[in-house]
Amino acid sequence: MRVLVSGGAGYIGSHTVLALIEAGHSVVVVDDFSNSKPTVVARLESLSGQHIPVHAFDLADIDKTTQLFSIEEIDAVIHFAGFKAVGESVSKPLEYYQNNLGSTFSLLHAMRRHEVKKLVFSSSATVYGDNAPVPYPEDYEHLAAASPYGRTKVMIEHVLSDVAHATPGQRIALLRYFNPVGAHPSGEIGEDPQGIPNNLMPFVAQVAIGRREKLEVFGGDYPTADGTCERDYIHVQDLAAGHVAALEHLDTMSEPVRAFNLGTGTGTSVMELFRAFEKAVGRELPYEVVGRRPGDLPAYWADPSRARDELGWTATRTIEDMCADTWRWQSANPQGFPDGS
Ligand code: UFG
Repeated sequence: MRVLVSGGAGYIGSHTVLALIEAGHSVVVVDDFSNSKPTVVARLESLSGQHIPVHAFDLADIDKTTQLFSIEEIDAVIHFAGFKAVGESVSKPLEYYQNNLGSTFSLLHAMRRHEVKKLVFSSSATVYGDNAPVPYPEDYEHLAAASPYGRTKVMIEHVLSDVAHATPGQRIALLRYFNPVGAHPSGEIGEDPQGIPNNLMPFVAQVAIGRREKLEVFGGDYPTADGTCERDYIHVQDLAAGHVAALEHLDTMSEPVRAFNLGTGTGTSVMELFRAFEKAVGRELPYEVVGRRPGDLPAYWADPSRARDELGWTATRTIEDMCADTWRWQSANPQGFPDGS
C-alpha cells in the first residue's frame, strides 16, 4: 500500500515509517515540523535506503491537504499529527482542540473527496479516564479523559466512529497507546522532546546524559508495591509493528471502526523503570522523591488480548530492551537530532 503518514517525522511516526517500508509498503510523509526536526527524514532515508517524499505544511489547511491527495497516489492514512502535551493542553485548550480536531477534519474531507477508505488513528490510553477497570478493556464505554489533550482524543474517536458508520467501505482502526518508550536499535532515531521533557523515560535519559540534574519522582505514597505509579511501558518498535498489523487488518475488519489497545499488559513502577535504566547505563543516577503530580492515576495497564486475537500482534520487547535502546539513542545523540534540513 502507499500510505500517507501524518506526523511522520515525530517520535512514533518516524519509527512507523521504517516499519512500513520494511513490510513492503511505500510512504508519503506530511509534517509541519512544529515539534520535530527535518533532519529526522535524512536519517529515515539512510536507514531505509529509500527516498521518502515529504510535504511540509499544516494539515489544518484543507486546500493543501486536498491537493496533496491529488499529487500523491494514496491508499491509506496513518494519522499521528497532533499536539500531545497534557500539561500544556490545560493552559492552551483552544489551540489543542483547534489543531487536533481541525487536522482530523481536514484529512477526513480530503479522504472523502479522493475516496480513500482506510485510516489508522493515534489514540491514547488516556481516553479511559479515571474510572475504567484495570486492565483497561476496549469495550469500556464511558470514555472521559481528564485533560483537554485527552478529550481531543475522545472527541476524535467519536468523530471517526460517526464518519466510518456513515461512509460505505470505510475502515478505521483506533489505536490506544499506553506509554511508548525506547528507540530504533540503530540509535539513529528516537524521542527528541523540545524543552524540558514531560515524560519519564526521556527525562531519565537526559539525567543520564547530564542535561538534567536529577529525576524528580512524582509521589512515593501511592497504593502500589513500592509507592510509585505503575504504567504499561511499550517499546516504540512494538508500537510501530502494531500500526503495520492494524493497517493490514483493515480490509478484513467486519465493523467500520474498531479500537485496539497497544500495550504489554504489565505494569512497571517509576522506580522499577528508573532502576532498569541505571542498569542499562551502568551506574547510579540521582533522584529525589517529591510530591505527587496533579492528575496522575496510581496504576493502569492494557488488556492487550483484542490486538493479539484480531491483529495477531503482541509486544515482545522487555523493559531492559526499552532502556538499552533509549540509552543507545541518547548517548549517540546527546542533544537529540541536529538542526538543519
Ligand atoms: N514521572 C515522574 N517524574 C517525571 C516524569 C514522570 O515521576 O519527571 C512519573 C509520573 O508521575 C507517572 C510516570 O512517571 O507516574 C509516567 O509519567 P509520564 O508523564 O511518562 O506518562 P503518563 O502516564 O503521565 O502519560 C501518558 C502519556 C500521555 C497520556 C497520559 C494519560 O504520555 O500521552 O499517559 O494518563 F495522556
